[in-house]
Amino acid sequence: MMPVRASTFLIIAVALITSLCATCDNDPLADGLPGEINCSSCHGSGDNPAPDVGAHKAHTGKSVWHAQIGCTECHLVPKAVDDKGHMDTPAPAEIKWGSLASSDSASPEYDFKSGLCTNVYCHGSTLGGSGAEPAWEDTGTAQCGSCHMIPPGQGHPSSDNCGACHGCVAENAQIRKDNAYLHINGEVNMQMPDSCPDR
Ligand code: HEC
Ligand code: HEC
Ligand code: HEC
Ligand code: HEC
Repeated sequence: MMPVRASTFLIIAVALITSLCATCDNDPLADGLPGEINCSSCHGSGDNPAPDVGAHKAHTGKSVWHAQIGCTECHLVPKAVDDKGHMDTPAPAEIKWGSLASSDSASPEYDFKSGLCTNVYCHGSTLGGSGAEPAWEDTGTAQCGSCHMIPPGQGHPSSDNCGACHGCVAENAQIRKDNAYLHINGEVNMQMPDSCPDR
């Protein structure tokens, strides 16, 4: 007889996996015996546990124009599969904001019904952006000018040469590919290329 906690866990796990399996690459419980389970066994692929739904890839993948956004910025991330808060409630998965989305005193929210994010710092809620209510299912690349204007307005210098003052982040009006980790990192970077902050 299995201990109560483990059997409850397995029942919930099977139910959740069944509902999630459109995104499963390999289902460790398909043959009834847990195989070698890692964080991408049930969601994600390869070494990457990001499920291929909504804007996961756009956020968590490497990017040439913005910082890579870790799971912890939007979810409570379990260390072990049976950690509290992971698979112990029915879908949808819980959203728990990390510090980035709340930078600059923003109060981010996700509406499960409409699938819209509101008041997210990253999308310019504090910068007067016009695209500050992104839809999670919208996987297109956000355009320059949608989170903040180019230049931002609101009393900001009117020069187009971003790199003259934000030299680590931009060259002219282009994001520096190698330094994309500084764009949407929660702070306005004013450093010049000889003194860029570490990754
Ligand atoms: C920018 C915010 C954001 C980031 C970063 C993010 N997620 Fe999500 N995640 C969401 C939203 C929004 C949903 C859809 C609503 C829901 O199911 O909670 C979601 C749903 C999920 C689901 C349920 C998928 C389904 O089909 O029901 C899993 C599993 C998940 N995320 C895991 C991860 C993992 C693992 C990472 C890191 C590799 C990650 N997420 C990074 C926002 C994010
Ligand atoms: C046995 C299958 C399975 C494995 C293995 C697994 N997950 Fe999940 N994970 C799920 C399911 C199912 C959900 C959706 C839960 C829900 O809807 O609330 C989920 C949701 C998540 C979420 C979204 C937040 C949440 O808890 O709802 C994150 C982040 C996540 N998993 C990370 C991980 C990490 C990190 C590992 C490795 C330690 C891992 N997962 C291993 C099945 C699994
Ligand atoms: C003449 C110098 C200068 C130039 C050129 C410049 N900025 Fe700025 N920028 C600033 C200063 C100063 C701040 C305020 C820094 C702070 O609040 O810590 C700022 C802040 C910002 C912010 C944060 C929002 C705000 O209004 O505080 C954004 C976004 C931004 N700049 C984008 C740009 C873009 C995009 C360009 C190029 C089109 C650009 N900047 C060109 C000096 C400049
Ligand atoms: C998804 C929203 C978003 C989009 C799209 C976006 N930005 Fe930004 N940008 C921000 C945020 C948020 C900041 C505030 C500073 C930070 O957190 O890095 C910022 C800041 C900046 C800055 C100031 C330097 C700094 O600290 O980052 C420059 C320059 C800039 N953006 C240029 C651009 C350019 C050029 C594009 C088009 C490739 C662009 N941005 C598209 C969200 C965005």
